[in-house]
Amino acid sequence: MEKKTMVYIQSGGPTPVINTSLYGAIKEARKHADQIGAIYGSRYGIEGLINDNLIDINMESDEDIELLLQTPGAILGTSRFKLPTDFHDPIYLTILKTLEKHNVGYLFINGGNDSMDTCYKLSLLFKEKGVDIKVMGVPKTIDNDLACTDHSLGFPSAAKCVINVVQSIAIDAASYRKGKVFIIEIMGRNAGWLTATIDLLDEDMRPDLIYLPEQDFDLEDFLSKVKTIHERDGYCIVAISEGIHFERSSQSAFVDAFNHVQLGGLCNELCKIVESRLNIPTRPIELSLLQRANPLTISKIDQDEAKAIGALAVKSACQGITGQMVAIKRLTSSPYKTELVIEDLSGIANTERTLPLSMILNDKEMDVSYREYLKPLIVGETDLKWDNGILKYAKFKYVKVK
Ligand code: F6P
Repeated sequence: MEKKTMVYIQSGGPTPVINTSLYGAIKEARKHADQIGAIYGSRYGIEGLINDNLIDINMESDEDIELLLQTPGAILGTSRFKLPTDFHDPIYLTILKTLEKHNVGYLFINGGNDSMDTCYKLSLLFKEKGVDIKVMGVPKTIDNDLACTDHSLGFPSAAKCVINVVQSIAIDAASYRKGKVFIIEIMGRNAGWLTATIDLLDEDMRPDLIYLPEQDFDLEDFLSKVKTIHERDGYCIVAISEGIHFERSSQSAFVDAFNHVQLGGLCNELCKIVESRLNIPTRPIELSLLQRANPLTISKIDQDEAKAIGALAVKSACQGITGQMVAIKRLTSSPYKTELVIEDLSGIANTERTLPLSMILNDKEMDVSYREYLKPLIVGETDLKWDNGILKYAKFKYVKVK
C-alpha cells in the first residue's frame, strides 16, 4: 500500500485538552506506519494549508509529545478562518496544491462547529474533484455547543475549572460581614452549558443568581434581586454567561470570520451599573482564558476521551472513512458509560446546540437532569509533571517542511 502523509489541523478556540487529541492521533498514526508516512501539523489552522506552512511532528522529542497532555493552547497554532462557499475560489486551488505537494492522504481537523464547516467543505471538495484524501473531524469546544455528540472535548475540563474557581470565590466572598456584589463572567458565547455547571456546587457555594444566553435578561429585575440579596446576606454573587442578551453601551468592534463579535467585559459593565444605581461596591471577575487554559483542572474523563477520539479519527481514516466526525454517545450516566460513534459532518457544521430549556429550572438552579449529565464528566485528576513548582509544557521546535 502506498504511504501517504497525514496533516493535523487545530482550529478555533483552544481547550485544555486540544493537544491531547493531537497526542492520541500521533500515537495511533505511528501504529499505521504501513499507510501513514509523514505526520505533519498545519501552522495556524487551515492557514497552514493555504500558505504551505506545515511542520514535521516526527521531529519533536518524545518528552514534548508526552507533555502535550498538560499543555494548554493550540500547540500547532489555530485560526478562525471561513472558507468560501464557491469551490471555484482560488483559495481551494492553493489548498489542493499544498496537499498534492506533500502527498497528503489523511487530514484531521480538530475544532468546533465553525471548524466542522471547514472540514465538511473540504470533504465535499475532495469528492467533487475526485481527490483521494480522507478527512475526519475531531470535536472540541469548551462551549459544548457541537451537535450530534453527548459533549465536546474540552468542556468537561473547562467545567471542572469553572466549578472549582467559583467555589473558591464563594468561600472568599463570605469572609466579610459587609461585602460586595461579585459578578463572574463565564465563556460560552450563545450557549449556557459552561455557566450552568456551577449548579453542581453545594447550595451555599452556588452563586445567588445565574444568567444564561438561553433566557431573557431583564436589567431592572436583576438590580432588584441583587439589592434584596445584598441587604439580606451582606454580599451577592452573580454568574453571567458572556453571551446573555443585554444591550451593551460599548461593544467590541472586532468580529471574526464567522461574524462572531468579540465578547468579554460584560461583568465590568454590569458592575458599573450596580455601583451607580445601587451604590454597592462591586468586583467584576472575568474568568476569560483561565477557564480554557488551566491544566490543573483537566478532567481525567476528558483527557481519556480526547486521546481516544484523536486515535479513532486516525484509525477510521485508515479504514477509508471520510467526511465524518468522531462523536461521543452516552449509554448510561451512572455508571458513566459511553461509546464512540462516527457522525456525518453535514448535520454538525455550523449548527449550535444550546442548553435545552428543560434543563433550566430558574435563575438560580438547573434541573436534576443537567446535574446527572454533568456529574460524571468532571471526575478524575491527571498526573502532572512539574519543574521546581512550575508546570512543564511542550515546547515544539516547529521544523518546517520544505
Ligand atoms: O471557542 C469558544 C470560545 O472559547 C468562546 O467561549 C469564546 O467566546 C471565544 O472562544 C473566545 O475566543 P478567542 O478569545 O480566542 O477569540
